Amino acid sequence: MNDKMYENPIVQGNINRLASLGYLFMEPDTGLMACGTNGKGRFPSPEAIVDYVKGILSKKSDYEGLRILVTAGPTREPIDPVRYISNHSSGKMGYAVAKAALERGAFVKLVTGPVNITPPSGAEVVCVTSAIDMYNEVMKSYESFDVLVMVAAVADYRCASVSESKIKKSGDRFTVELVKNPDIAAELGKVKGDRVLVGFSAETDNLLENAALKLASKNMDMIVANDVTVEGAGFGVDTNIVKFIKRDGSSIDLPIMSKEDVAHRILDEVLSIGKG
Ligand code: PMT
Repeated sequence: MNDKMYENPIVQGNINRLASLGYLFMEPDTGLMACGTNGKGRFPSPEAIVDYVKGILSKKSDYEGLRILVTAGPTREPIDPVRYISNHSSGKMGYAVAKAALERGAFVKLVTGPVNITPPSGAEVVCVTSAIDMYNEVMKSYESFDVLVMVAAVADYRCASVSESKIKKSGDRFTVELVKNPDIAAELGKVKGDRVLVGFSAETDNLLENAALKLASKNMDMIVANDVTVEGAGFGVDTNIVKFIKRDGSSIDLPIMSKEDVAHRILDEVLSIGKG
């Protein structure tokens, strides 16, 4: 195969179809090919293939048989047909949790606000926009899940009324009245039974105090606290710096690490909570 054949939409469509069915796909190498062109399409070396297969076989399968529901990304609360209130969540942290759980054998449902990244293949993905949409989707399906991980940055408030047409510029000041959104994690905390509920806490000050309050008030089993003002942590970046606080008061401080590694550490803790 050469780069033109590899990039052909039919080949790419076939690859995506196989990936959506759960087949794993090893990328071809880039370099000089038999036809004389240079590009992506070279058959990988036997050593690289062996390493790839070893990597798959060494992965844990400790979530086999478990069902995990993950929320991710921001919500958008409309003001009028062209404007909305939202936040900086990119979805990276939530998607990393979904991917890690899939890698470890879980069935994963990912309820995601609007983001620009591709969901991990193999997850059941439901795209939502507002906090109310996310709330409805989570509450309708949580019962069939063992683990609930609330990573989404859900807007706490929405507009009291949404204008049907674009609001025109008029005076120097403009006021929007906001009303409280349902708190998905808190509602789950009331009905969770023996499911493991993990929340996140995005803070700019008093990280541990604020996170501990949320853990208790939402009846979570563990909260993952991140100070979103620190470089390398929080919104948009590929890394995070988090502290886990558990229901029994114990806590774990983690150094800066990739969001994928944070996700695996969360899943490790969830299993220990489930067994405890
Ligand atoms: O998406 P990224 O760019 O990768 O960024 C990652 C992140 C910063 C969004 C993530 O690490 C994070 O901190 N997510 C939680 C953000 C947040 O909304 O925190 P909070 O402290 O406001 O909410 C506490 C918990 O309650 C969260 O689990 C949240 O999902 C949940 N919540 C909040 C409000 C609400 N109405 N419903 C909820 O379920």
